[in-house]
Amino acid sequence: MKDFWEERYSEQDFAYGTRPNDFLASCKELIPSPCRALAIADGEGRNGVWLAQQGCDVTTVDYSQAGVEKAKALAGEQGVSINAVCADLAEWEWPENTFDLVVSIFAHFPPDLRRQVHRNILKTLKPGGTLILEAYHPSQLEYKTGGPPVAEMMYSVETLKADFDGAEIVKLEDRVAEVNEGKYHFGQGAVTRLILRKPS
Ligand SMILES: C[S@@+](CC[C@H](N)C(=O)[O-])C[C@H]1O[C@@H](n2cnc3c(N)ncnc32)[C@H](O)[C@@H]1O
Repeated sequence: MKDFWEERYSEQDFAYGTRPNDFLASCKELIPSPCRALAIADGEGRNGVWLAQQGCDVTTVDYSQAGVEKAKALAGEQGVSINAVCADLAEWEWPENTFDLVVSIFAHFPPDLRRQVHRNILKTLKPGGTLILEAYHPSQLEYKTGGPPVAEMMYSVETLKADFDGAEIVKLEDRVAEVNEGKYHFGQGAVTRLILRKPS
């Protein structure tokens, strides 16, 4: 799978564009100040760079070296700095109680790794910290406008409720939305959106 992403990000264009994800941008008022933010599976950095533009101290993690290089270049072009880490989230040492905000945008993993990553998100958030997540829902397979090719890598309200049991759910919904981001997310799709707070 890693090779797939290396190849995709070796293209000249930004696969999902350079603008932030619409759902994330709509949550701007949830970003505290100051804010230490983590963007997981951040790809070519569009969301991490946007968070830095909002004044956050940003760490991004992705296992694609090509993605991380493009993220650093994008940050440089936009005149901000991010700590872009190239690492596999299955092995990364998640620091405990560290981030005010974690952002997970179209970060799709197989079920075991998904559960592991989601447990680690709760671990790495500070008490009272916020997670903003958008992912494709299994019914996205009918829309064919982007996302993983298999339902087991997509998320629903039920999956996320179980993964984040014990957290304070601020918003959790399955919905149909327009997702137009670069050439690989191109039109109406089925997504699941989550905003949660780690209990204080
Ligand atoms: C659909 S892309 C989304 C990229 C970015 N979040 C965005 O919205 O533009 C999925 C990303 O997950 C990353 N990824 C998948 N599995 C990973 C893992 N185990 N560790 C780190 N990154 C991973 C890929 O390299 C890819 O950049």
